[in-house]
Amino acid sequence: MSVTAPMKSDAPTNSPSAKPAFVKGLAGVVAVQTEISSVDGPRSTLIYRGINMHELAERASYEEVTYLLLYGHLPNVTELGAFNERLVANRWIPAQIVDLFRSMPPDTVPMTALRTAISALSFYDPEIEDTSIEATERKAIRLIAQMPTLLAAYQRIRQRQEPIPPNAQLSHAANTLYMLDGRVPDPDFVAALNAYYVLLADHGMNASTFTARVVASTNADLHSAITSAMAALKGNLHGGANEATMRMLLEIGDVTHVDEYIDKMFAEKRKIMGFGHRIYKHNDPRARHLNYWAQRLGRKVNMPQFYEMSLLVETSVLRHREIYPNVDFYSASMLYYLGIPIDLFTPMFACSRIAGWSAHVIEQYKDNALIRPQSEYIGPTDLHYVPLAQRS
Ligand code: COA
Repeated sequence: MSVTAPMKSDAPTNSPSAKPAFVKGLAGVVAVQTEISSVDGPRSTLIYRGINMHELAERASYEEVTYLLLYGHLPNVTELGAFNERLVANRWIPAQIVDLFRSMPPDTVPMTALRTAISALSFYDPEIEDTSIEATERKAIRLIAQMPTLLAAYQRIRQRQEPIPPNAQLSHAANTLYMLDGRVPDPDFVAALNAYYVLLADHGMNASTFTARVVASTNADLHSAITSAMAALKGNLHGGANEATMRMLLEIGDVTHVDEYIDKMFAEKRKIMGFGHRIYKHNDPRARHLNYWAQRLGRKVNMPQFYEMSLLVETSVLRHREIYPNVDFYSASMLYYLGIPIDLFTPMFACSRIAGWSAHVIEQYKDNALIRPQSEYIGPTDLHYVPLAQRS
């Protein structure tokens, strides 16, 4: 039996005369059929195109996973070579986008800057209004390749530095780090970021992917769908949770303050960022890989305290309630150890998830039906228009 939320009406939902049941937050509602990824809460598994994410997290490159998500199978050597070349060739962004970043108020939040830049890239894409599968695949490759360049360029500009051109010799993950400070990154840093990119590349019908599919279902173009997905990712109940987690760790400040801090959070009925999940109620399978990288990088950069604090937060939260770390919890300290500024954490998430968003837009186009649910009106129905002069 499928998991369904309690219905307000006793009438069965499949009866033609029945009013569709209201399900708050669409929890448990199956809105889409997909071959891209499977998220199994009770078994705590995540599968991309039939392959368990644990295998991919330990062995695959983000480039391979992106190909897998877009085309449905792992690339062979020739396919991967050609795909890599296309990604590398498309890393550049138009000078007008760099100027746009320069024109933004200096305190513009990076997620806001990037969401706007994705939308603005549509001015310069030669195939913007072509929503054929072929054109959308080409646009997806351009956007996936450009995303880290946007992120790094914005970061450099707000620090009053010149953007660093992409390095064609480096992988997607290595080039992301390179464009931030101009140094070829440590191999452990690259492996950690690659694993992060692989782990976050797709995740079933999460809020931003659903948003992208809703937009695609109206036959709008890929840039519109990705811009909307960026907007949905920004909130702290979704992609923004990684930033909120790191701010929490910094606020806790020391391993000796963890219990007191968590007790206070629960006493005030506040949510602990990086914990809980709509689907995984026991264990988010991605967390253990990020835990591994957070621990390893913490030692490497000689700042183990944030990882150690994270372990204690996990134990402390469990004293109050059975909720577990989600993907954002250990990715917070891991990204911090990579030297990524906290307000770039959610854009880093977007650099990965753009592969999944693009694959979902293409899948939606291939078998489209307008996504248009209903609402249950619960307001009054017997009021009347009162002329302005007579209103109190
Ligand atoms: N801290 C404290 N309590 C939490 C919690 C958290 N992080 N996550 C869930 N809970 C509690 C809720 O308060 C609720 O309690 P109640 O039954 O007493 O009302 C219960 O657990 C169910 O939570 P709910 O928010 O209804 O679950 P959901 O499936 O709608 O929400 C999240 C899932 C992810 C939105 C939620 O767990 C959350 O807000 N987490 C923090 C933000 C986060 O890390 N987001 C990233 C997700 S990958």
